[in-house]
Amino acid sequence: MTSARVTLDRDFTIGDVPRRLFGSFVEHMGRCVYTGIYEPGHPTANESGFRTDVLDLVREMGPTVVRYPGGNFVSGYNWEDGVGPVEKRPRRLDGAWHTLETNEFGLHEFMDWSRQANVEVMQAINLGTRGVDAARELVEYANHPGGTYLSDLRRENGAEEPFDIKLWCLGNELDGPWQIGHKTPTEYGRLAKEAAKAMRYVDPTIELVAVGSSNSGMPTFGEWEHTVLTHVYDEVDYISLHAYYQEHDDDASSFLASALDMDHFIESVISTADAVRARGRHKKHINLSFDEWNVWYQRGKDTEDQEHRVKESGWREHPRLIEDEYTMTDAVVVGTFLNSLLRHGDRVHIANQAQLVNVIAPIRSEENGPAWRQAIFWPFARMAAVAKGRILRPAVASDRVETARYGDADIVDVSATWDEENSRVALFLANRSLDDAAGVEVALRGFRAERIVRAEILEAPDGADRHVSNTADAERVRLQELSGVATSETGITLTLPALSWAVVEVDVARD
Ligand code: AHR
Repeated sequence: MTSARVTLDRDFTIGDVPRRLFGSFVEHMGRCVYTGIYEPGHPTANESGFRTDVLDLVREMGPTVVRYPGGNFVSGYNWEDGVGPVEKRPRRLDGAWHTLETNEFGLHEFMDWSRQANVEVMQAINLGTRGVDAARELVEYANHPGGTYLSDLRRENGAEEPFDIKLWCLGNELDGPWQIGHKTPTEYGRLAKEAAKAMRYVDPTIELVAVGSSNSGMPTFGEWEHTVLTHVYDEVDYISLHAYYQEHDDDASSFLASALDMDHFIESVISTADAVRARGRHKKHINLSFDEWNVWYQRGKDTEDQEHRVKESGWREHPRLIEDEYTMTDAVVVGTFLNSLLRHGDRVHIANQAQLVNVIAPIRSEENGPAWRQAIFWPFARMAAVAKGRILRPAVASDRVETARYGDADIVDVSATWDEENSRVALFLANRSLDDAAGVEVALRGFRAERIVRAEILEAPDGADRHVSNTADAERVRLQELSGVATSETGITLTLPALSWAVVEVDVARD
């Protein structure tokens, strides 16, 4: 048994929980849109063609904001192709994913779906093949009330009221050589600045995200953020980060410590943004939008084989792409990513798990078949539901584990929130150890634990190993009640089984 002591002090808070931290992502890629959220012929489809079995799972998971329509896809996309009468919409080749795009689903359909899913829209524009003009025109089409060609076109197309989209991404991963319309940081910084200006001339209330590095291993990482922000600092509110992690060489201990790399990435981008702030004598801070993150098994040769197969099979509509099946281990890692994001919630104001359905996703669906929750669904769903109010800064003294990739890591990983309105503290805990349970003592300062409201645990079911996953027929990884959580004069005690993720909600009174 290992042990950890966590201290939570009512006065040591990081900031308010940014509710946009629980975002997701819908890209026109693989089967995320078609046969994912949208499948008019499906037995559960509603009058809009949306799968209600998937919609129910999305509502249960509770994302607050959803980025759309890409991803790599957006860098070759004409938004105009996705509006107007469906029968007149052009079929196009999507070079990013070697896919035939029918454009049956576009902006109006996504707005409609978002309303039904109860999520905010985060709209990405194409700064790969297009530029300032298409960007400002899309803002006018979406957000201007009426009386101009583009806003009246929207009304003719069935949306009398403006969509009023607040959050906009100025392109996607333009630092990546794979991106259609890849740019140098100077080229991108100049373009993003001019696009941002023109978009804000149309609607000054919008919030803008500049493209940051596709991952922290990019050769231009750091320099990209510095140059881009030097150009665009006054025009934008956020800089983006993307990161995907996977287990390498059967080294689960390192994989379970991947959130240390996420911490480092976040802190590096904050430093870079603040260096530009100082150098430019700016007053405001640029905050972070971690708008793609997840576990993604990019298997090297397998991925190349898959891409090769997709190309060999010609241009097809919604091919199966990167439909990773997530394990118990992945779920714990996802829990630690969410902890990392929450602990940096003073500067990371937006985060989007990529993606929502089928494509590296917490929700899976089969064409004309069932929909189900993957193992990674649970930490997201519970944290999105429970993390409210203020973020507490946990002081953690945990036994440590040595990892080959990321050095020493706390065995017990924690984040916590305090919902003052409802006098409730929520704790999100992961036990990174593959073999040992962890005894956790949580000391409360400035409040007293009155009652455990709910304590839940995600662990491999009896007889299953860490590779256990969910399928259409069997939900093996799901939340259970965590027994043995006790309150005392000084706080709370609990035991986390080996390789587990837990959420504990406790009613507190001020001391
Ligand atoms: O989410 C899958 C892809 O990963 C996105 O299209 C791209 O932005 C990233 O590289």
